[in-house]
Amino acid sequence: MTEIAKGLEGVLFTETQLTFINGTEGILTHLGIPIQEWAEKSSFEELSYALLYAKLPTAAELKQFDADLKANRAIPAKLSEAIASFPKDVHPMQALRTAVSYLGLFDPQAEATSEADRYAISVRLIAQFATIIAAIARARQGKEAVAPRDDLNHAGNFLYMLNGQEATPEQARLFDIALILHADHGMNASTFTAIATSSTLSDMYSCMTSAIGALKGPLHGGANEAVMDMLDEIGDPSKAADYINKKLDDKEKIMGVGHRVYKYFDPRSRVLRDYAEHVASKQGKSTYYQILENIEKVVVERIGSKGIYPNVDFYSGTVYSDLGIAKEFFTPIFALARISGWSASVIEYTRNNRLLRPDALYTGATDQHYIDLNDRQ
Ligand code: ACO
Repeated sequence: MTEIAKGLEGVLFTETQLTFINGTEGILTHLGIPIQEWAEKSSFEELSYALLYAKLPTAAELKQFDADLKANRAIPAKLSEAIASFPKDVHPMQALRTAVSYLGLFDPQAEATSEADRYAISVRLIAQFATIIAAIARARQGKEAVAPRDDLNHAGNFLYMLNGQEATPEQARLFDIALILHADHGMNASTFTAIATSSTLSDMYSCMTSAIGALKGPLHGGANEAVMDMLDEIGDPSKAADYINKKLDDKEKIMGVGHRVYKYFDPRSRVLRDYAEHVASKQGKSTYYQILENIEKVVVERIGSKGIYPNVDFYSGTVYSDLGIAKEFFTPIFALARISGWSASVIEYTRNNRLLRPDALYTGATDQHYIDLNDRQ
């Protein structure tokens, strides 16, 4: 075998019934249902169930699932104490990676890998990610963690635990939509990482800890924070075009645009742009929104022909900013949503598990012999 699929582009290694993407037409579906319908009509809880069980829940099933999530929101006191003791200046994704790994130490079922065990652990992790991330955010500000409430939905409860006060119904719904948009996205780098770990028949906590590490990078989940850094650096909408043109002239990447699969607008970015436009029409265009508009124009004009268009991370930061969320928490919030997709994909793959073990073309030296340390030049 001499052909190398760099970045594993176009390599099919398994089948899935969860998520379909047509990158040239900008289509994304879960269980065959367009993402726009999920965003408009569903909830993060319902989509999480649908991904985990590969079917739409009945009303009774959804009620039970919702109750299970609510019942599992609390985290062990020892984990809360550990989070409070983390250095304040570490990136929240480092804190999340450590906290999820630590959480596994307190789960007597952690090593269990049957399908039923994987479901049960997934439900706990979906619920507890919210509590952990909110606790990390509060600890960084030197504040006490806020205990979860079981009269709020997943999105509303997270915002409550984050801010210590209840969000408005509009804010909670907007956040719910953002979670829906990020819940799953086919065979992306972090999902693949979770599956690669599970393919060794390792445990769910190890799978999710690996996935968090993969999501953290700026070419993947970390891009949303990098977009905000870029917007802050540009500062003024009138400077956006020159800034982007210079980056492109210098062959530098623009954060929040481009995608391995989409060669047209990412449909998730359209849902978020519609929201940003809605806010702009009511409150006037924010500086961030104006900068994004100007960036989009230059990007589409200059590199749209290469199939590079805004991705989901392009507008998500402005939505989170509107909700008062600090930019270091944009990627943890991505994880808060993607835990559903990671869990569902691991469960689906494990049903027909085969160890993932690709190969690399060896191009190093041959016919060499060991040289004694003292004889080396
Ligand atoms: N800005 C400018 N040019 C770009 C960009 C970009 N963001 N993305 C790709 N290109 C160009 C490359 O320079 C390259 O050009 P060339 O053929 O002239 O050398 C060509 O497009 C192909 O680029 P690759 O990096 O090889 O494409 P790949 O499929 O590996 O890239 C990726 C996908 C990593 C997402 C890339 O578009 C990128 O780095 N984007 C910025 C980071 C980002 O927003 N990531 C979030 C992705 S979505 C998500 O994970 C949620």
